[in-house]
Amino acid sequence: MVRLVWHLVVLQLCLLKAAPARNDRRSGRPSPIEPRSQWSSAPDVRPLHYNLSLLTEVDEVNLHGTFHGELTIRVHVWRETRTIVLSTSGLKVGPKVWLIRKNTGGRVAVRKLWHDVRHQRFGIHFKSLLWLGEEYSLMLKFSGQLSRTSGYFVGGYVDASSHPQWVAVSQLAPNLANTVFPCFEDPTLLSPFVLNLAHTRNTNAVSNTRVRATSDHERDNYMWTSFHQTPPTSVQKLAFSINRFTGQKSPRLAKCPELVTWLRPRIADQGAYAIGIAPQIIVFFVGLFGKPYPSVKIDQLVLPDTAYQSHEHVGLVSYPERAFLYSEQGSTAMAKQQVASHVAQEFSHHWFSDLENPALYWLHYGLSDYLAGFAVDKVEPTWRLHELAMVRQGFAVLDEDSRASAQAVSLAHATQSAADDTQAYHKSALLFRMLHSLIGTQVFVNAIRLYLRRSQKGATNQTLLWKAFQEESDRQMSLRQDIQVSRLMESWTLQPGYPLVKVVRDYATQRVTVTQERFLRNPRVGGDSPGPISRRHCWWVPLTFTSAGRDSWVSALPSEWLTCQAYQPARPLVLTEVAPPDDWVVFNLRVTTLCRVTYDDHNWWLIGQALAGRNASNIDRFTRAQLVSDVLSLAGAGVVTYDLALGFLQNLQREDEFIVWQAAARNLRWLHRTLLNTPIISVFKSFMWSILQPKFDELFDPQTRSAGKNNKLDLKGLILKLACQTDMGPCADLALKEFAGLTLKSNRIPIDQRETIYCTAIRYGTEADWTLLRRLYKRSNVAEERGIILSALTCSRENWALDKMLGLAFGSRYLPKGDVLLIFSAVAQNPLGFILAKRYLVDNIQAITKFYGNSTDEIAQLVTVLMEKVSTESELDYLRELMKKDLRYLPGIEATSRRILDLGHDIIAWHKRQYLHLVSAVCNITGSIEPQCLY
Ligand SMILES: *[C@@H]1O[C@H](CO)[C@@H](O)[C@H](O)[C@H]1NC(C)=O
Ligand SMILES: *[C@@H]1O[C@H](CO)[C@@H](O)[C@H](O)[C@H]1NC(C)=O
Ligand SMILES: *[C@@H]1O[C@H](CO)[C@@H](O)[C@H](O)[C@H]1NC(C)=O
Ligand SMILES: *[C@@H]1O[C@H](CO)[C@@H](O)[C@H](O)[C@H]1NC(C)=O
Ligand SMILES: *[C@@H]1O[C@H](CO)[C@@H](O)[C@H](O)[C@H]1NC(C)=O
Repeated sequence: MVRLVWHLVVLQLCLLKAAPARNDRRSGRPSPIEPRSQWSSAPDVRPLHYNLSLLTEVDEVNLHGTFHGELTIRVHVWRETRTIVLSTSGLKVGPKVWLIRKNTGGRVAVRKLWHDVRHQRFGIHFKSLLWLGEEYSLMLKFSGQLSRTSGYFVGGYVDASSHPQWVAVSQLAPNLANTVFPCFEDPTLLSPFVLNLAHTRNTNAVSNTRVRATSDHERDNYMWTSFHQTPPTSVQKLAFSINRFTGQKSPRLAKCPELVTWLRPRIADQGAYAIGIAPQIIVFFVGLFGKPYPSVKIDQLVLPDTAYQSHEHVGLVSYPERAFLYSEQGSTAMAKQQVASHVAQEFSHHWFSDLENPALYWLHYGLSDYLAGFAVDKVEPTWRLHELAMVRQGFAVLDEDSRASAQAVSLAHATQSAADDTQAYHKSALLFRMLHSLIGTQVFVNAIRLYLRRSQKGATNQTLLWKAFQEESDRQMSLRQDIQVSRLMESWTLQPGYPLVKVVRDYATQRVTVTQERFLRNPRVGGDSPGPISRRHCWWVPLTFTSAGRDSWVSALPSEWLTCQAYQPARPLVLTEVAPPDDWVVFNLRVTTLCRVTYDDHNWWLIGQALAGRNASNIDRFTRAQLVSDVLSLAGAGVVTYDLALGFLQNLQREDEFIVWQAAARNLRWLHRTLLNTPIISVFKSFMWSILQPKFDELFDPQTRSAGKNNKLDLKGLILKLACQTDMGPCADLALKEFAGLTLKSNRIPIDQRETIYCTAIRYGTEADWTLLRRLYKRSNVAEERGIILSALTCSRENWALDKMLGLAFGSRYLPKGDVLLIFSAVAQNPLGFILAKRYLVDNIQAITKFYGNSTDEIAQLVTVLMEKVSTESELDYLRELMKKDLRYLPGIEATSRRILDLGHDIIAWHKRQYLHLVSAVCNITGSIEPQCLY
């Protein structure tokens, strides 16, 4: 099972440190492989048993590898035939190809072998007929290469004594098994496997099952490791690795299988946290699903970051190091949360692994990711992370899903883009949160158990899941009668986007009219998108609200629904007795529904008054966060004015909640970046300072600093970052002062502030500072810390430093690909670096596509970084041409470039339509007399 290319995730973690989504997924997409023709009909001959023996040879200097295999497949003949067709890709098969008839022990002569490279098929035509109902053994020899784009690859790293080392890992899902051995690739054909691996004596071998025996190999320095037979499984679920890692056992808990974690000896101590919590997480899920873990042992592989994708397989789970390691001295608090979430997400999905089907990843990952949050809350109750993380994720999803190019979650997999997959999993998790809030925990859990009991291996769909929820909620009568789970959920899963809920109060009659339409950040779409987007979508929207008088934030049970009947326009809903005219009203408590909400001007005014008042903290923190997030997005789309939005931001001066600041920061960073090359930037910065200064003074006041405001660590990190990014004087002073105390031996800078302090110090500092940091980088063995230092090194205002960093990024075999992207983005974010980064990409485009092995997703990330900074049509056209010309042969580039271009169109549209509104609001609110404000 595979997921999002992991380092895209890490990028998210690093760049959006203050606003990370939970640890995300890899969507293992073997991009350069052409889409598979469907398993049109069941084959005439089907596998009963595989016996695979594989010898792996690796050249550790060049990180090349080859494998030689011998395979015996016992097959059953379902229809008389003369031909057996296997799936292979990039393998050399033969010369030995034998077929033995079980009844007689006789060999069936081969007439002809054929390869159909295009369809990745290998056919064996026999001289005589294979008899119906009989069993045969097919034996063949084959060989192939380990590579980044195939199902078996080799990753490199250097060990403690600077020797190159390698690790070989399989990645057969979703469709690469045939690049490792000839097979019947249809995932519905299940058969047991026996695996034997030949490898050098100084390496370990692990697979889904336990080691059965080890024995000598004919070559002196090689040995065989044989594994126990697997239960019947599809070929894609086989997994194995050869490595020189050290194995660490987790503490044993009842109901948790034996768990061993394999990692590089040098960083093994950083695995302690995840190794300790993993069994508790598994035990939690055993209880939740009411089903034992589906294997008697688990090996966890922690892969150095040069390894490409990673996977979870029942019995053998793999993680990128960044997602698994935590160092008390070197990792941020956020990293620890990410580790816990990641481990929980891996395991929670194991209970769905029988139902695996790429078209349903969004459904099962969404659900299992949502459930993973409960495991984290169980293991780390003091964090109270789940709801917080969900709300945070909600804001990210709302941003992405407001684009014209957004995909319906149920169709996201079809576009073959990791970005679409991530968005789909995230949105789907939030939809499960909504459903959970509507039907209650008991019904929710019972329904999932019912679904797991009922669903057959490989044969399921969303209808079956909604049916389980429907039956359970009918039993408990937990939903209003006219609400059908499937209709409700499908209104969210089968179409892209989400509603803008408009609440208009008539203060004379006290009636409230609620309507819905699709929210688009750029309502008048043009450019590369096919025509203006129809807004006649509708959703089933549960409505929750409260008012000044009610002041109750607890219940998320809907009082009313916006309905959505097929083939009918969305109908407005009229509510009475909502609130007296002088009281504010807010909708969508605890952000349980994925929507934006807007109100009539007077109600916005009432809410603004409440937020500005002394009792503002009585309003639930999630609602405060949503109000800030909504008002800024709505202003960006021209639904409300920037006067209103900036007015709301002024209330942040008294805001203490991290989540509210974070909601604001998402949008403020976007504004800051977008305004960077406009004349208004200095006025905008002074507006930012007016908001930030009081909070900054409060949090970083030397008198109160020692008072140990530990609970505000995250807020401090966020404020510091915003303040230094907008060049606020006191922030730079603080950063330089802190950095001055740094030496190779002692580092007293709080971990969560290092990123900002390093970057600011490098920006204003000397070459000596740069060199010091570079040395710290070389000494560090904490992946997160190394990433932080790398991106800080690119904050320099010297061209030589930026050049050097780009050279380092694309010139090093051992640098984690996540760090490559990190450096590239950091250079592009640097005001002096954008041109440099763009030129570098354009000049080296061929080498870079090769460097990434033609991986569309990874190259797309680089273009995205540049696209986020365009402000004119011609800059956009330039990148469009680049994709059209130089990247045209990358698989799936059409859909990807449409999405990337959309980013650019949105920014340009904003400049055209909203920029002047923002200017006048900023000028008005700051009272600035700068020339830009006087026209
Ligand atoms: C698997 O095949 C190897 C030879 O390729 C053989 O030595 C071994 O006995 C076979 N194992 C089983 C369980 O069939
Ligand atoms: C979902 O699966 C069930 C049972 O396999 C089947 O009856 C039903 O038609 C399927 N629904 C859809 C929409 O494919
Ligand atoms: C603030 O809340 C308190 C009780 O929580 C209430 O007594 C007081 O009237 C409120 N003040 C305002 C200005 O709403
Ligand atoms: C990448 O694509 C180019 C052009 O199609 C091709 O020549 C090259 O072999 C590919 N490289 C890899 C590693 O697949
Ligand atoms: C400027 O702000 C004041 C309130 O501070 C407001 O009344 C006025 O409408 C604003 N003017 C513009 C042009 O937005």
